[in-house]
Amino acid sequence: MHNDIEKIYVSENEINDMLNRLGKEITNDYKDRNPLIIGLLKGCLPFMSDLVKKLDFPLTLNYIKASSYQGIESTGFITIEGKVPDVKGRDVIVIDDILDTGRTLDSIRRVLVEHGANSVELCVLLDKPEGRKFDIHAKYVGGPVPNEFVVGYGLDYNEHYRNLPYIGVLKPRVYQK
Ligand code: IMP
Ligand code: MG
Repeated sequence: MHNDIEKIYVSENEINDMLNRLGKEITNDYKDRNPLIIGLLKGCLPFMSDLVKKLDFPLTLNYIKASSYQGIESTGFITIEGKVPDVKGRDVIVIDDILDTGRTLDSIRRVLVEHGANSVELCVLLDKPEGRKFDIHAKYVGGPVPNEFVVGYGLDYNEHYRNLPYIGVLKPRVYQK
């Protein structure tokens, strides 16, 4: 697995620094608000699991599994699998691995507002500002990455590499398989 990585963009140490900083920011903003933290499966998994351990105050957790219809990009079409969590009156923080075009988080944010959330903020480990097609802003961001396809720490290529403890770029030969 590690042999498939050409270059590391964000090391384990850097991820840890990001987690500590985000933990402080979110604690500062939410410690008395009993927020509902909603992770987007499956990319949120390692990030969410590590981040919530930095939040030492009352909160509840839930998940959403969203699928985007690849190939009809311009429609911005997203479906949520199963029931939308009960967000009525809650201060919600949505967690995802990366903000790219913004399509996923823009749709999810709108659905949660429609379902009566009191507030919705977004938290992503990585931001690819150059990829943005939707007018959307994440309040909590670990750090930026260039407009390249990255894997690791939740981010997959064909469902693999989510378990890498760092963020990296794949060698070209991996795509040629
Ligand atoms: P968006 O809806 O275009 O912002 O894309 C968000 C989703 O696309 C992320 O949750 C990832 O699943 C996927 N994605 C975007 N960029 C990358 C990448 O560089 N590597 C792996 N997955 C990515
Ligand atoms: Mg994904």
